[in-house]
Formats: sequence, structure tokens, C-alpha cells
Amino acid sequence: MHIVTQKKPEVVIAESDRAIARMGAAEIANLIQMRNAADLPTVLGLATGKTPILLYREFIRIAHEKALDFSRVITFNLDEYYPMNTHSLQSYHHFMRANLFDHIDIHPAHIHIPDGTLSRKDIANYCAEYEEKIQQAGGINLQLLGIGENGHIGFNEPGSDVDTRTRLVTLDPITRQNAAAEFGGETNTPSEAITMGVATILEAQRIILIASGSKKAHAVQQTIDGPVSTNVPATYLRSHNNVTIYLDPAAAKHIKSA
Ligand code: F6R
Repeated sequence: MHIVTQKKPEVVIAESDRAIARMGAAEIANLIQMRNAADLPTVLGLATGKTPILLYREFIRIAHEKALDFSRVITFNLDEYYPMNTHSLQSYHHFMRANLFDHIDIHPAHIHIPDGTLSRKDIANYCAEYEEKIQQAGGINLQLLGIGENGHIGFNEPGSDVDTRTRLVTLDPITRQNAAAEFGGETNTPSEAITMGVATILEAQRIILIASGSKKAHAVQQTIDGPVSTNVPATYLRSHNNVTIYLDPAAAKHIKSA
């Protein structure tokens, strides 16, 4: 592992996706331990997708090894497809149960994932309440992010502004193409989702973005070296003063500062 830059954002290139998973998982586990020791709740913002699977696996291992106490851990997931049944295999509710929540002793009432079953007329109120719940929990201490090939964070697709909040969005064609295999083709892939906004994400005290594989290399390069722009929403992370981007060599290959 070597640190490329300590200016904003900090960029860490690790030898493999496993190494990224180990570092990310260790940081989250340490945060929970520290906050537990200080008798404070830990509020986590969580991501789904292929990239965090290894991290969650490693995190579960550490949690068991250290007998981590989850009684004061509260989670808010970034997003969910709309419409989406909670029990559908493609839902992020299912993903989170299968990859994390079924394996740790977290209180079900402390888990928050956007609800893809709402009727359309209820979405705006629901999204405002999601934001309120984050505030009531004390704000997000650590937000975990992946990045889309198009530079999205959460489902804040190209065109999403820095001041966006939790809301219903239309998915970008690239996002739908990438999800199509899981849905048995693009025509079955949802065209909308509920996502935390860019502003919601930027309010987290600490953000870690993980990316691996060459398919992410262009978006990563834009995020680190390109102009800050709504065209690549991840570039907004440069306005935050506590972000670390963990990359494997393939995802880092186009970075100029590397
Ligand atoms: C998922 C999310 C997305 C993913 C991104 C990368 O909750 O918010 O922004 O992080 O699409 O997905 P993977 O890891 O599948 O390449």
C-alpha cells in the first residue's frame, strides 16, 4: 500500500480489492469500538453493489473476532430501486440482509434503507423524513461509498447538483445497463430509484470511497483530477475535508497524480 496524496481527497492505492476491503472494514470496526468506549452511538451510511461485498465479509469476520457490540450502531443505506419489493432478490434490502445484517447482531429498528414499496405520492414526505431521521440520529459519522462507471455516488447520476437531498431519481442508461444482468435484461431493470442526495452524503463527518477494477478507472481519474462538475457527481467529494479514496491498481491506473 502507498499513499498517493494527502491533499483533498486522500488517495490510498492498495495491492488488491481484498486489501481495500481489509482497510475499510478495519476503519469501520475501529470507529464502532472507539465510539462504544466513549458511550456514543455510531451512525453509518452504507452502500450496496459488488464492491463492498468483500468489505462486509471482512467486517463480519472482525466483528466476530472482536465481539463488537452493535447495540448503539445505527445505519442508513444510500439507496434502493423504485419500485422494489423488500423481499425481491434484486432489492438492496435483500442485499444488505444477505451480505451484512443477517451476520451481525444489529437491532432491526436501527436499520434504515429507502423504501421501494411506497406509492409515488408518498415519496417526497418519506424522503424528507429519511433526512430527518439521519439528523435525529446525530448525523452520519462514516459514509461508505462505491462509485459508478459514470461517476455517480449513491444514485446521484450525472446532472445531480451539490445541494440535492434524498429523493426519487431517474437512473442513467449506464447504471441500468450495468444492473441489467441481475434483472434478466434491461427492459426488466427499474428506471428509477430513491437515493440520498449529494448534500446528504457531504454532511457525513467522514467518507470512504472504495473502487476496484479498470472499469472504474476513468470515473476515478475524473473524481481526483478532473474539473468539479455535475457531470461527475463524485467530484463533489473534493469539497469535503475528510475523504479517503481506496483504490486497487486497476482503478488507479489513469490518475495523473499517481
Ligand atoms: C450502491 C450505490 C452505487 C454503487 C456504484 C458502484 O448503494 O450507491 O453508487 O456504489 O454503482 O457499484 P458496484 O460496486 O456494483 O460497481
